[in-house]
Amino acid sequence: MIIVGGSSSQDLAKDLANILGCRYIQAASTRFPDGENYTRIDEESLEDDVVIVQNTYPDCNIIEMFLLQDAVSRLGSKSITLVIPYFGYARQDRVFKNGEPESAKILAQHLDMKCDRVITIDIHKEAVLDYFTCPHTDVKAAQAIADYVSTKGIDMVLSPDIGAAGRAKDVGTRMGVPYDHLEKTRLSGTEVKIAPATMDVKGKNVLIVDDMISTGGTIIAASAALREAGATSVSVACTHGVFVNNALERLTGSSLDAVLCCNTLETAASDISVASLFADELRKC
Ligand code: R5P
Repeated sequence: MIIVGGSSSQDLAKDLANILGCRYIQAASTRFPDGENYTRIDEESLEDDVVIVQNTYPDCNIIEMFLLQDAVSRLGSKSITLVIPYFGYARQDRVFKNGEPESAKILAQHLDMKCDRVITIDIHKEAVLDYFTCPHTDVKAAQAIADYVSTKGIDMVLSPDIGAAGRAKDVGTRMGVPYDHLEKTRLSGTEVKIAPATMDVKGKNVLIVDDMISTGGTIIAASAALREAGATSVSVACTHGVFVNNALERLTGSSLDAVLCCNTLETAASDISVASLFADELRKC
């Protein structure tokens, strides 16, 4: 097996190759003067099972993924597995308003044209993977998160909304602490309202878990509600730290005690490695 890293998640891709003891090739990626992507894998041939590690976010990485798929295929790969640490567009998984596209479906259908297997982690909507015709798996980051925070004195795990309640259960159960979910109402793209927690959080060290932090609006509102209810400390651990604009600075400068995320996207807070989870999945192939 050979791991080919695109320009995103390079640390994760290299860790993955190290754990699996297989060869790592970093694809070269530059831009033409007009901004178009130029990608090259500097090899004579790749007659092996090839794993491409590349996010579909931001948009330029989608194009790079398509180019990598074609380059790998042209070099004679026996099979192509896509490891997509952060699958962009998974939130637009259906038409919410007339005239919108099914963005996640379109993306999956295009990626599906040249791949034999797809592995994601905590994709926002798992049903998106059903648009692939090849075998697909969504790995869960819960164990990596639970292991990382196990020594931090967490008393309970909460999700900011019911949609992520399963994640809170998964992490809480693995840690052996109670779990619950908050009630979130989205007011706009950046603003949310969080109802008071039904569980008693007074004097407790609370961990909020979510699949992603984008603007940080959800977590800032959840943290404020928990502080208001008397929580002693509030930390957050998410799988994907998208952190648009200055979200990470806003979060670290807020009342949160810790901001943690996995290394699906490379940020200053990407302390939790999910490389071994992907390695375990690839060993099954
Ligand atoms: C929503 O369903 C997701 O799980 C996240 O809670 C949401 O995308 C976070 O977005 P933001 O950080 O912009 O509030």
